[in-house]
Amino acid sequence: LPRVLSGIQPTAGSFHLGNHLGALRQWVALQETTEAFYCVVDLHAITLPQDPEELRRNTLVSAAQLLALGVDPQRSTLFVQSHVPQHLQLSWVLECLTGFGEAGRMTQFKDKSQREGTASASVGLFTYPVLQAADILVYQADQVPVGEDQRQHLELTRDLATRFNSRFGETFTLPETLVPAGGARIMDLQSPDKKMSKSLPPAGCVFLLDDPKVTAKKIRSAVTDTGREIVADPVNKPGVTNLLAIHSALSGTPVAELEERFAGRGYGDLKKELAEVVAEFVTPVRERTNELLDDRAELERLLAAGAARAREVAAGTVRAVYERVGFLAPV
Ligand code: TYM
Repeated sequence: LPRVLSGIQPTAGSFHLGNHLGALRQWVALQETTEAFYCVVDLHAITLPQDPEELRRNTLVSAAQLLALGVDPQRSTLFVQSHVPQHLQLSWVLECLTGFGEAGRMTQFKDKSQREGTASASVGLFTYPVLQAADILVYQADQVPVGEDQRQHLELTRDLATRFNSRFGETFTLPETLVPAGGARIMDLQSPDKKMSKSLPPAGCVFLLDDPKVTAKKIRSAVTDTGREIVADPVNKPGVTNLLAIHSALSGTPVAELEERFAGRGYGDLKKELAEVVAEFVTPVRERTNELLDDRAELERLLAAGAARAREVAAGTVRAVYERVGFLAPV
């Protein structure tokens, strides 16, 4: 079976529609045909300032949401990144193979450090993509399901794997990036020129755990475009195009069919129907997440079992890597 690995940050507590349509939807589908490893990347979350109690809470909420969305711990290995120290053990070796300039070219680092103010951005934010590479390579993953915004980090991962292999001998599998055909880049509802993100004002971001009334309001207030036609046209109608993309990805109706159905109707009709489609999707996810959070001990037990399995696989890779780079084996 092909190996899959992916990760998601627990930072906001609730995931948003972009996370689901770009990545998590694929996570759930891939469990059927692959050996999947999925983690909540809490180590990555502290690259920006975090409140400790909130981080702990958000990590649990994230794990519960993944289960509610359909990640099945019988079929996938679900765990918390900081429970598997091998990610960090490999990360150091990869850091020593990463060029300073190479890391500096990562666009997410440039965006985030600019937002923080470059002087106060941490070294952890700078080395973030190398830890991500370690997350992937430590499991010898064949495939990594992610949204469009992660492509550059996946290219770095492949470059580092290739570099290590050529310097120290064939060790790592080169992972393939799996980006979905529709939904790979969901845009913000208020600023449809920017990707939907927890770091923009919440009015444009549909969180899965939002109250359904809030969700409906966000969709009703989505920025649409001049003109009145409901057609996908990313250049001239980015707002409407985004609403069509969300509808299509959630309802499984091709965009062309939606265009036909809404021909001659107004933006209000599209928004009303989309609000229903979204509510139908998020309501059971929200309920199930809350149920799972009621039994914290069970959730923690599941995560402990996942981490034990993950450590077993990851330890094998670290052992081989440490031997190849020339570390004296501990006796
Ligand atoms: P994160 O936590 O920002 O996002 C999780 C996943 O959601 C996707 N995504 C989107 N897809 C479509 N439209 C959007 N607006 C949108 N916003 C987010 C992301 O592409 C991602 O797949 N660096 C990663 C976490 C990570 C990781 C890994 C991923 C750490 N280690 C190893 C894969 C493999 C991140 O910050 O994702």
